[in-house]
Amino acid sequence: MAEGKFAGAYDLLFSHYLKSVRKKIMNIVKKYGCKNVIDLGCGTGEQCRMLFNEGMKVVGVDASLHMINYARKVSSAGTKYLVSDILSLDTKKIFDCAILSFVLHGNTMEEQEKILEKAKEMTKNGIVIIADYGEAENIKGKVINVMIKIIEGMAEQAHSRNYRLYVKNGGLRRLMKGQEMLEQYSFYGGVIRIVVINSS
Ligand SMILES: C[S@@+](CC[C@H](N)C(=O)[O-])C[C@H]1O[C@@H](n2cnc3c(N)ncnc32)[C@H](O)[C@@H]1O
Repeated sequence: MAEGKFAGAYDLLFSHYLKSVRKKIMNIVKKYGCKNVIDLGCGTGEQCRMLFNEGMKVVGVDASLHMINYARKVSSAGTKYLVSDILSLDTKKIFDCAILSFVLHGNTMEEQEKILEKAKEMTKNGIVIIADYGEAENIKGKVINVMIKIIEGMAEQAHSRNYRLYVKNGGLRRLMKGQEMLEQYSFYGGVIRIVVINSS
């Protein structure tokens, strides 16, 4: 995954803008009483660190060695990290909660569905929290969408193509068909959304 090469810069660029999203994810994890969490596509591990500091057991997984090396370097020893493609994991019903934060849009549509099923398999009577791009619901959202398109356009070719297809095909709305959605939150005029689904 190309973004891994820029692990340090990733936090520098996005951490501030994602603060409210990360905080909401943490509050959802707490609200559902989850103690044992897996962050799939954890990137630099920022969300993992927040959860660990709140007393949760956290495992972060990412396909990028650069991202995981960086995450390990800046996290305390108690947070566990693993380099792996999500689809290669063979973990069933171990966690209370799985997080997919800005991971799905970079994968093909087929992979997105498989990743979501994998996340559900890993969580016992639990929840999957997805943070990703949704549809703009006002002018603010439309403006932010233009900026996101520019940023995603600078990613590696396959990622950019997957992002475009993700958006074109309805993004999270398409993926939520047939899922038991428990809650939904909107940020930045709807362009960023969090959805919580029941995986039991
Ligand atoms: C945009 S970053 C988001 C990182 C972090 N979750 C966050 O919210 O900031 C996407 C991350 O997901 C990882 N990723 C994407 N698809 C993956 C897959 N199929 N298996 C493992 N990691 C994946 C990438 O390597 C990258 O680090």
